[in-house]
Amino acid sequence: MKDVYEAIKERDPALRVGFEVILYAGFWAVFWHRVAHRFYSAKMIFFARVISQMSRLATGVEIHPGAVIGKGLFIDHGTGVVIGETCVIGDNVTIYQGVTLGGTGKDTGKRHPTIGNNVLIGSGVKILGPFRVGDNSRIGAGSVVLQEVPEDCTVVGVPGRIVKRTLSKEDVDSMNQIRFPDPIILEIEELRERLKALEEIVYNQEDMRGD
Ligand SMILES: CC(C)(COP(=O)(O)OP(=O)(O)OC[C@H]1O[C@@H](n2cnc3c(N)ncnc32)[C@H](O)[C@@H]1OP(=O)(O)O)[C@@H](O)C(=O)NCCC(=O)NCCS
Repeated sequence: MKDVYEAIKERDPALRVGFEVILYAGFWAVFWHRVAHRFYSAKMIFFARVISQMSRLATGVEIHPGAVIGKGLFIDHGTGVVIGETCVIGDNVTIYQGVTLGGTGKDTGKRHPTIGNNVLIGSGVKILGPFRVGDNSRIGAGSVVLQEVPEDCTVVGVPGRIVKRTLSKEDVDSMNQIRFPDPIILEIEELRERLKALEEIVYNQEDMRGD
């Protein structure tokens, strides 16, 4: 559990002294999930589910024992978080309260999302379906995400839309064929910048007329 402790220490400015970590519902939710997942992997499904349900009662976080979770998961506040059976979560992910990583009810087999490394999922977010949220992406509080999210994006709204995409200099320089810059998003970003600049000019002129 050292990884979870380190994650909380690094990402929660509210943590003052190390042992306060035992007061975090998210810490215990991950701890009990690790126990439950071992029983699940050993095909002791009922016992695994008992542990997971006891953990839900104690923490308010429901993680199905089948979910595969990487290192350094920080579930902040915890209450109302639901993580489905076929969900896969990478390393160093942050999840706030009220998040659902669930299914739409239309899929069988893999029904729940796969979350990449270093993803931030804001409070109240619903990510529904068996698609991937790429590494380093951020999902704004209150969003409902129903489609694949590429790496390094910010997604907000209902349904979730990409509002920002950060390309590493390396990608642009090397014209990396896998994470190739999306020309439409780049165009939209440029137009947003130009619109902002024009708005500033108009506001400044209105101010001058007002004087
Ligand atoms: C999305 C978020 C991670 C910020 O990511 P970011 O990449 O830094 O994005 P920005 O702040 O630059 O915002 C990009 C745009 O999305 C908008 N936006 C940000 N968060 C939003 C949200 N939750 N819903 C709708 N729009 C949002 C911004 O207003 C901005 O719009 P603009 O370009 O028209 O000005 C952050 O706003 C967020 O929602 N964090 C969750 C925090 C949380 O749940 N806290 C709970 C603590 S108890």
